[in-house]
Amino acid sequence: MYRLIRSILFLFEPEKAHHISMNTLSVVIKIPIVKSIIQKLFTPKTNFKKIGGLKFRNIIGLGAGFDKNAKYLHELDSLGFGFVEIGTVTPLPQGGNEKPRLFRLKKDKALINRMGFNNAGVKQVKSNIIKWRNKYPESDLVVGGNIGKNKLTSNEDAWKDYVICFKALYDVVDYFVVNVSSPNTPGLRELQEKESLKKIITCLQQEREKFSDKKHIFLKVAPDLSLQQTDDIIDLSHEVKLDGLIIANTTISRAGLLTGKSILDSIGNGGLSGNPLNKISEDMLEYISSKISKEVILISSGGIFTAEDVRSRIKNGASLVQIWTSFIYEGPGILRKIS
Ligand SMILES: Cc1cc2nc3c(=O)[nH]c(=O)nc-3n(C[C@H](O)[C@H](O)[C@H](O)COP(=O)(O)O)c2cc1C
Repeated sequence: MYRLIRSILFLFEPEKAHHISMNTLSVVIKIPIVKSIIQKLFTPKTNFKKIGGLKFRNIIGLGAGFDKNAKYLHELDSLGFGFVEIGTVTPLPQGGNEKPRLFRLKKDKALINRMGFNNAGVKQVKSNIIKWRNKYPESDLVVGGNIGKNKLTSNEDAWKDYVICFKALYDVVDYFVVNVSSPNTPGLRELQEKESLKKIITCLQQEREKFSDKKHIFLKVAPDLSLQQTDDIIDLSHEVKLDGLIIANTTISRAGLLTGKSILDSIGNGGLSGNPLNKISEDMLEYISSKISKEVILISSGGIFTAEDVRSRIKNGASLVQIWTSFIYEGPGILRKIS
């Protein structure tokens, strides 16, 4: 069934298809019978797990960038995700890069994106989450807040943007993710250097002291880090007692793709996600988990399509996993198939 829907959706430009599918879901889910059919068809079995003080109804989450503005939490909740990461959110709204900025690589079951943190800004996103929480107070969906900096903020002042988003979202999300690993905001990945990271994370930890509850702070890393940079991040995680890592964001590599060079050249820059990221992110997870303290929670992201992929990530140290590109290629049935 999804194959048919997908072949129709794939007739549209990818960003448009994303909006069409989520807005259609939004409309049909308002009909109670349709909602209950969707839930019966797609929702995976509940298998509660407590991780980092949070109760996850299952360990499969939706990665950041899918619901940047927290507009579709009810829809994603109904599909049965264990957790959804909203954002990346920046202090001020921004339009992101020029379109087209999202591309399908069908042969590779992959996507390339250079969205550039398009989002409605932290004030609006906060209001969207509050609206959802007020309307569905019974929901047990865990919501993560993935935060970033505005394009025009210098790297020197970046920590201030992270603090603004952190403070604003503290009462409405369940955990935080510091995103310094998107390839689509110029210079952002330079913040993965140890000293820059230390500044951002310790500032957030200081802010956290002011609240009565302790929300976990995760760092999302790029799969393109050198061995030295990866080791630095492991050291830093111990030094600042980081709560967790998300391994990994999209890659700038184009190695081993089935898609031809001329198509890749015509697409241009951007982060590659999906199947080609599978081995890269798994290898990185394996390396980090072999060296990092067991206290640091690891979330695996990148090229996860099957139950076997999830089993393997768990074997290699992940407590939770996130999907994104596979959801586009396989549809909502993927949750039940994996679980
Ligand atoms: C269109 C698109 C937009 C994304 N936007 C963000 C984002 O804003 N912040 C972020 O941390 N990751 C973002 N990501 C990365 C995903 O969250 C995920 O880490 C990555 O795609 C690898 O997982 P996958 O292979 O399952 O897609 C985005 C990915 C895609 C495809």
